[in-house]
Amino acid sequence: MATDLTGPAKASRAWTRRHLLDLEHLERWEIEAILDTAASFREVSARSRKKVPALQGKVVVNLFFEPSTRTRTSFSLAAKRLSADTIDFTVSASSMAKGETYIDTARNIEAMGIDIMVVRHQTPGAPHVLARTLNCSVVNAGDGAHEHPTQALLDVFTIRDIKGRIEGLTVALIGDIAHSRVARSNIWALTKLGAHVIVCGPPTLIPRSIAELGVEIAYSLDEILPRCDVLNVLRIQFERQRAGLFPSIQEYFALYGVTEERLKRAKDDVLLLAPGPINRGIELTPGVADGPQSAVLRQVTNGLAVRMAVLYLVSGGAPRPALVH
Ligand code: NCD
Repeated sequence: MATDLTGPAKASRAWTRRHLLDLEHLERWEIEAILDTAASFREVSARSRKKVPALQGKVVVNLFFEPSTRTRTSFSLAAKRLSADTIDFTVSASSMAKGETYIDTARNIEAMGIDIMVVRHQTPGAPHVLARTLNCSVVNAGDGAHEHPTQALLDVFTIRDIKGRIEGLTVALIGDIAHSRVARSNIWALTKLGAHVIVCGPPTLIPRSIAELGVEIAYSLDEILPRCDVLNVLRIQFERQRAGLFPSIQEYFALYGVTEERLKRAKDDVLLLAPGPINRGIELTPGVADGPQSAVLRQVTNGLAVRMAVLYLVSGGAPRPALVH
């Protein structure tokens, strides 16, 4: 784990990364620099004129080879709030069917004078390949089941915002750990920031090797609930599963669904997160999703500030101190 740098040492560290590809290779101070910069940008969204000139004259492209609603919109809006020009490029199955590789597609788009490419792709490592191939900055918006760094950054931002800290908290990631890029990025961020992470779900959805990342594995949600400060409820990634990995949705819901009844076993101030899209009635009930412990919509709001911070930093901006956490 990276050492914690505080005070003057932290302030003197200069941000040098041109890409944001994963959280595995970020040091703790870099994650904190993104969170602090995001906190300072949040104020921009509260203004009546929601714009700063930080990326004026720069071009940001969203290149999405997989469906997305919130992530793509959030990156677009974040770039616009920084005054960048933006283009959304969703690659349909039909244009890929013409035979062009994703690398050629990306190189052609870069040739139009792009500064930052935000990439979502179904293949793990695709953004890393593009970062080595292209001259522009590359930001990973989700690569297969590998990582989704900005989602985890907005998750930890929301936890820090509401709980005031990450260090020492117990955070459970519930559900489809095997196929979830959100789980992997959350594990890297949370463990680097000093949280205790429990991954909880059916044995078929938890790879044994995940223990090597320093997390606790649990198969009973009811057993771990009383000691959790945060529950991050992950979507079952049906589109990435090759075979039925649990007997039925009803059984999954009975054992792992987060319900009002089940939440009675949790701490009064337990915080509930979900990256979305949520499947009401499978991973959690509507009452829980919309209930007092849920921060689901705050996550979406915070995602905008986090993505502004990431676009700003990879384009050469210096980390900004948080005005408030
Ligand atoms: C996540 C994703 O795409 O990995 N969603 C998102 O970015 N809003 C989580 C998911 O699809 O379950």
